Amino acid sequence: MNICRTIEEARIAVRDARAKGHTISFVPTMGALHEGHLSLLKLSCDNASFRVMSIFVNKIQFNDPKDFDKYPRDYDQDIELIAKNGCDMVFLPDDSIMYHHHLTYVVPEKLDAYLCGASRPGHFKGVCTVVAKLFNIIQPDIAFFGQKDIQQVMILRKMVTDLNFPVDIRVAPIIREKDGLAMSSRNALLSPDEKTRALSIHQSLKKAEECIRAGETDCAAIESKVRSVIEKNGTPERIDYITIVDYETLVPVSAISRTSVLAVAVYFGNTRLIDNMIITPGDNTPCAY
Ligand code: PAJ
Repeated sequence: MNICRTIEEARIAVRDARAKGHTISFVPTMGALHEGHLSLLKLSCDNASFRVMSIFVNKIQFNDPKDFDKYPRDYDQDIELIAKNGCDMVFLPDDSIMYHHHLTYVVPEKLDAYLCGASRPGHFKGVCTVVAKLFNIIQPDIAFFGQKDIQQVMILRKMVTDLNFPVDIRVAPIIREKDGLAMSSRNALLSPDEKTRALSIHQSLKKAEECIRAGETDCAAIESKVRSVIEKNGTPERIDYITIVDYETLVPVSAISRTSVLAVAVYFGNTRLIDNMIITPGDNTPCAY
């Protein structure tokens, strides 16, 4: 696996691969890799002949400097893992390479008004800016993102359309631990007690699924059931949001009449975890996750 630390090296490696007729796929990450990231790499392997990943903890998308400082990092282990799993090239830049005298940003509108966009001001400006830069550096044909960060992928899809990036964005399902906890680099920051309490998130989504299957369409009623499961089973430090939004606009809805997303963000200890479930009314299995 080719390890590129500069933009120049990355451009040359991708240019060579393209000259040989390869299709280029790309999975951007912030490292501390887990099975969720590897599932994106697997899709990458199934859909392209030259697979690129990036590992870059993007400071400008952290609205809280303490969150950035404590974000888990293990570059050696990450490199070993992806080399074993079919990655052809990893781009590993540092801050001075990505943001040298940087003054230009990509700022989304509207789609960041609720959910994480509301509670993490500037977060999606940081995400869009770094992904736009990475797309310009790697110039992939296809890029893979997880449904786990559903607002992120919807915003990036719109960015790609609006700014005419020639990249096909694909979305992959949420990979979970056996006990249901959505995999996340941040799970490494949880104490054993916090991790046990965090299972309440998945339990609450299951509860919502059960209610929806039984015919409930009122979002306030579903959100309230979700809240009570998380409060009772998880005694969280704080619930940031429990909101059902329209799948396209990401604006809160009061009743489920078309495809929607139930999204939650909850703090256990100082760690903020997110999860979500797509709700498709009229489907026999309304909650695909
Ligand atoms: P990171 O949190 O490292 O996630 C990288 C990719 O892995 C994202 O597309 C995310 O949705 C996906 N992912 C995370 N957990 C997953 C899970 N349990 N199942 C499936 N996919 C999962 O998201 C970022 O990094 C950054 O914001 C980034 C896009 C790299 C920009 O800095």
